[in-house]
Amino acid sequence: MEYPNYAPGALRFFDAPAQQRTIAESHVQPNVINGAAYRLNLIGCGMIGREHMRVATLLGKAVVNGVFDTSVESLEIASKDFSSYANTELVIYGSLEEACFDESVDALLICTPNFTHFEILQTAIKSGKALFLEKPMATDLFEAATVVALAQKYSNCIQLGMQYRYKSQYSEAFHLIKSMQVLGDVKTISMSEYRPPFLDKVNQWNKFNEKSGGTLVEKCCHYFDLINMMAQARPVRVFASGGQAVNFKDFSYQGKASDIDDNAFVIIEYDNGIRANFTLNMFCPELYEELIVVGSSGRITASEKSSFVDGRVSKATLVLENDAEAGEQIFDLTYADLVERSGHHGATFFEHMALIDRLDGKLTDSATPLQGLWALIVASAAQESIVSGAPTIIDDYITDLNLEDALK
Ligand SMILES: NC(=O)c1ccc[n+]([C@@H]2O[C@H](COP(=O)([O-])OP(=O)(O)OC[C@H]3O[C@@H](n4cnc5c(N)ncnc54)[C@H](O)[C@@H]3O)[C@@H](O)[C@H]2O)c1
Repeated sequence: MEYPNYAPGALRFFDAPAQQRTIAESHVQPNVINGAAYRLNLIGCGMIGREHMRVATLLGKAVVNGVFDTSVESLEIASKDFSSYANTELVIYGSLEEACFDESVDALLICTPNFTHFEILQTAIKSGKALFLEKPMATDLFEAATVVALAQKYSNCIQLGMQYRYKSQYSEAFHLIKSMQVLGDVKTISMSEYRPPFLDKVNQWNKFNEKSGGTLVEKCCHYFDLINMMAQARPVRVFASGGQAVNFKDFSYQGKASDIDDNAFVIIEYDNGIRANFTLNMFCPELYEELIVVGSSGRITASEKSSFVDGRVSKATLVLENDAEAGEQIFDLTYADLVERSGHHGATFFEHMALIDRLDGKLTDSATPLQGLWALIVASAAQESIVSGAPTIIDDYITDLNLEDALK
């Protein structure tokens, strides 16, 4: 089978499907701030907050108006960084309330550590503004379910920061499998992430289960979101094994020893018969992610090789096997360089395009709080299974935690 000849707009962000390396000029308007329609405030300007500031400015469709952060050092770093590429003033707010209730601002991006999301959201939601909430939406399922309930009553949008949906290789795999049906019926889904250990964070919140929600919640909610979307069904049973084999075994902060897992194997069964697995290993020198989906008539392997080392190029590839005569068809899906380098291999850029679409009142494919909750249910059920040594039965788990109402 030939690589599909997409109708214009089928993949809205790729203009040249044969090469997949270009992006329309109209998508990137570096620093065209005067024409920007929206103003954004950031709550938290650590690593990902600064990435959002850079990407929003690169996209040029919204102005980064201001930031609130409890760390003077983070504010200094973010202000310096911002002044190196933007030509507007950055407002530094003295309180969360001032940042949330500034009437000149259209949207609030909550980019603080996981354990603060729920509390900050309680204030942010009173603003009535569009909200962007970084993943994971909360550190426990009760809080996540409460966010879903709040979102159902909220008159504006709440977009979750599940930007792996916008990685080129997954986005393309979804298009081929769901829209083009190139694999027939999906039967198995295998996802894996091999990567170096967690990076340093402000006050090292990501080294502790209590603050992050646990490794499978903190990091891997991205992958459970992708697997859930690919399965398009309700998870029934989750079985997992994992632990802390290498990383941060001698690490402590403020007298507390790190307790986060650095490797896991997770198996998920869905009510439509699809089986999925997820492999995590966080003590590798370089980053490698892979999604293998096998259907009744073919296989797709979508992968990304990248590095935390500056200057090492990343590469996104998709391999399609669904025609014995054609054999393996290999496609380089690496985004255009400008976009690729802007953060998370271009995924953040398209996440911001979706945010602008939301602000324009359009429907988008960004993650909803309900989808975020389902990703967390699988992640938490896997963590529960690691502790209990038995499979977690999702219906029982949901009943025990009183989550039914949030899932209606
Ligand atoms: N979508 C993704 O791929 C992705 C990638 C990285 C991080 N994240 C998420 O983004 C969030 C932030 O991660 P990070 O890597 O930027 O962490 P970080 O530690 O680098 O930055 C967090 C910032 O929030 C500030 N902060 C802490 N408590 C605050 C409060 N109550 N009010 C205001 N500011 C506060 C800190 O001072 C710090 O500057 C986390 O939820 C993380 O899981 C998502």
